[in-house]
Amino acid sequence: MTEHVSPRDVDRAARVPAPIALLAELTHRCPLACPYCSNPLELEATRSELTTEQWISVFNQAAALGVLHLHLSGGEPASRRDLVELTAAGAAAGLYTNLITSGVGLNERRIAELSDAGLDHLQLSLQGATPELADRVGGYKGGYERKIAVAQWTHAAGIPLTVNAVCHKQNMDQMADMLDLAVRLGARRIEIATVQFHGWAEKNRKALMPTREQVLRANAFVNEARKRLEGVIVIDYVPADHHSSYPKACMGGWGRTGLNITPSGRVLPCHAAESIPSLQFDSVMDRPLADIWYHGAAFNAYRGDHWMPDLCRTCERKEIDFGGCRCQAMAIAGDASATDPVCIRSPLRQTLVEQAEIDSRAEPPPFVYRSMRPAREDG
Ligand code: SF4
Ligand code: FES
Repeated sequence: MTEHVSPRDVDRAARVPAPIALLAELTHRCPLACPYCSNPLELEATRSELTTEQWISVFNQAAALGVLHLHLSGGEPASRRDLVELTAAGAAAGLYTNLITSGVGLNERRIAELSDAGLDHLQLSLQGATPELADRVGGYKGGYERKIAVAQWTHAAGIPLTVNAVCHKQNMDQMADMLDLAVRLGARRIEIATVQFHGWAEKNRKALMPTREQVLRANAFVNEARKRLEGVIVIDYVPADHHSSYPKACMGGWGRTGLNITPSGRVLPCHAAESIPSLQFDSVMDRPLADIWYHGAAFNAYRGDHWMPDLCRTCERKEIDFGGCRCQAMAIAGDASATDPVCIRSPLRQTLVEQAEIDSRAEPPPFVYRSMRPAREDG
């Protein structure tokens, strides 16, 4: 896409820092079927995925742009046969390489190859602390056992490990057991994030929304565990939105710290940005990555404060949370430039909390699983 670049754009670009992180969604294929899948509702087909050479070009462009961290993600990135080659290319470009995986599609040999290729870090998702719950949430029988094995192979290969646990109504009460498991597996860090309700998770609100009591117990547990396990494991925690007073600084602010690239090469300011219908996204097939970052229309749409409603533009927190999450504003207010409805100052806050209360009290219905074509296990 070509577009006119005004002097104002150039001036704005001069004040935009380089991105720190690139999240490369190598594929949307995934063997799991999590009910809170964060991939877009419209998945990209295998035939439209960037080739090995195209991804390598993207990684080199990212390094030249100033990116430091390369997150290899999906779908399930191990579904790509060229994962080891792509990891080696990222490392050769000087990027810190992090694999975000369910573990399915990895085996001991492939992990050793990834280590040899220069993989710096591995993030493994965990859906529950018992095989029964983890396999039911992920919709994949035998997934839990594979994850435990992957964690052990990763540890043995000397690759630092983080465990990712998305928490919700049905597994939040296993938080202590998930933390114990992460410690036993040798993880240096655990990311406990409460489920976010945009995209597919919206279909499972009554099955996933935690109750106020669960959230309060979880908050207290994390505070206690952080002290108890200081020096053993780092605990990153994203509490439930509707029990917070202010929104989080989603993506560290729009177009400020990172970018996402979809399997076909579309460049997004965040993983859910395609839920905002007014935005148009450039592709790495048509335009250099640096040009997209600095001058792309989607990246400039919500940078700075020019787009903010008065409530945010005049608020003392606008440099802390940058007005919150644009995709959440779109999902709940129907307007991506509205104040994030999580904010206690938002006129929609009360509605958000009341709906969350109703969903959290509901008897959980069966999950609506994300159905994707099963990925082949390579290796
Ligand atoms: Fe953040 Fe806007 Fe709320 Fe202020 S009014 S706290 S900037 S979301
Ligand atoms: Fe898109 Fe928050 S998920 S801005």
